[in-house]
Amino acid sequence: MNAEETTENNALKGKNKMSSEANVAKAGLEGIVAAQSSISDVNGLEGKLIYAGYDIHDLAEHATFEEVIYLLWNGKLPDRAELDRLKGSLAKEAGLPPEVQQLIGFIPKDANPMDMLRTVVSSLAFYDPDGADMSREANVRRAIRLTAKFPTIVTTFQRVRNGETPVQPKEELSIAGNFLYTLRGQLPDEVAARTMDVALILHADHELNASTFAARVTAATLSDMYSSIVSAIGALKGPLHGGANEGVIKNLLEIGSVENVEPWLAKALAGKKKIMGFGHRVYRTEDPRATHLREMSGQLGERTGERQWYDMSRKMEEVMLREKKLNPNVDFYSASTYYALGIPTDLFTPIFACSRISGWTAHVLEQYENNRLIRPRAEYVGPRGLKYVPIEDR
Ligand SMILES: CC(C)(COP(=O)(O)OP(=O)(O)OC[C@H]1O[C@@H](n2cnc3c(N)ncnc32)[C@H](O)[C@@H]1OP(=O)(O)O)[C@@H](O)C(=O)NCCC(=O)NCCS
Repeated sequence: MNAEETTENNALKGKNKMSSEANVAKAGLEGIVAAQSSISDVNGLEGKLIYAGYDIHDLAEHATFEEVIYLLWNGKLPDRAELDRLKGSLAKEAGLPPEVQQLIGFIPKDANPMDMLRTVVSSLAFYDPDGADMSREANVRRAIRLTAKFPTIVTTFQRVRNGETPVQPKEELSIAGNFLYTLRGQLPDEVAARTMDVALILHADHELNASTFAARVTAATLSDMYSSIVSAIGALKGPLHGGANEGVIKNLLEIGSVENVEPWLAKALAGKKKIMGFGHRVYRTEDPRATHLREMSGQLGERTGERQWYDMSRKMEEVMLREKKLNPNVDFYSASTYYALGIPTDLFTPIFACSRISGWTAHVLEQYENNRLIRPRAEYVGPRGLKYVPIEDR
């Protein structure tokens, strides 16, 4: 943490103390430091993100998603043997219990895939071989199971709702490679697999974002990991959080051309509409994750010959910076990146979940390690001193 941030944090802690003494709420808990963590850190003034000490740019350029998962869970990068062991366990756990496969078949084909994911993940608790064991070892095994199964759940649902047979993941493929393989039934090429891998790295963790906080609040009651993750999925679904990437592609499809960006945005902003994929609670500069996603979106656009989504996105970025001084966040260029990969638009937020499950489980493990119930106060603004009136007299 640099000097400026330390001062900022101390100031926030000071404010926080005063607030709690006076019982004054801080809208959206902005700036409130609610937990200690060594998993990731966001420096909003400098636009920096680290996972357990490693700069996100370094990881996006050199690491694999599996290495990042290990890093988030263990606080260090794996050696070869540790990585191989983790990959082996993930591959072993990628399949779904037959009852869960069946359940996916019963879910309405037009269900929102995040609702589907929430329900199916909840059902996994019934088939967990560790039962009610709350040891760290059992919870690490659950983290592996959940991280391995998320992509399989999403792609199984996609295939089932299309009337296609689910594809079994291949042991030798990465999580990213398997996601694309089990989605399409064809092996992805190297560019597609690496793009997906980098996207998963970039979405893996982000300090106390809303869904991670939800997971930690549930874990802090000493409820189980499945309940914590279900809380997180519910929070991620919202358009102000992970749901934004689907909103971005909807907007791009509606705008339709670079020429239409300026008038479309002018109208939307005049109507006080929130433009999905812009703004952030913490970053005051460019979101460092957007830098990589922008580049990948551009490269894929060149490759597919469909540059318009990238070009429109660039124009939106220019106008939003000029008109609102707002930068794109992680959701903005992930939308055109996934679109260029041919992924159905309502799977964009579930893909976010397929990555963030690594961070959520890391935070749940960390919460259990040093737990205290999370129970803040409310600033009461309702009436006081009223006297009960019998119903016939009201
Ligand atoms: C991310 C987000 C929820 C952060 O919210 P926040 O810190 O509570 O900030 P606020 O919503 O209070 O916004 C502050 C101001 O900026 C404006 N603003 C913020 N994001 C905006 C956006 N995407 N489009 C238009 N205006 C925006 C707000 O209208 C508000 O203006 P005002 O002060 O004139 O009322 C918010 O920027 C947003 O809704 N973005 C769009 C959804 C999104 O992309 N979410 C993914 C986040 S990774």
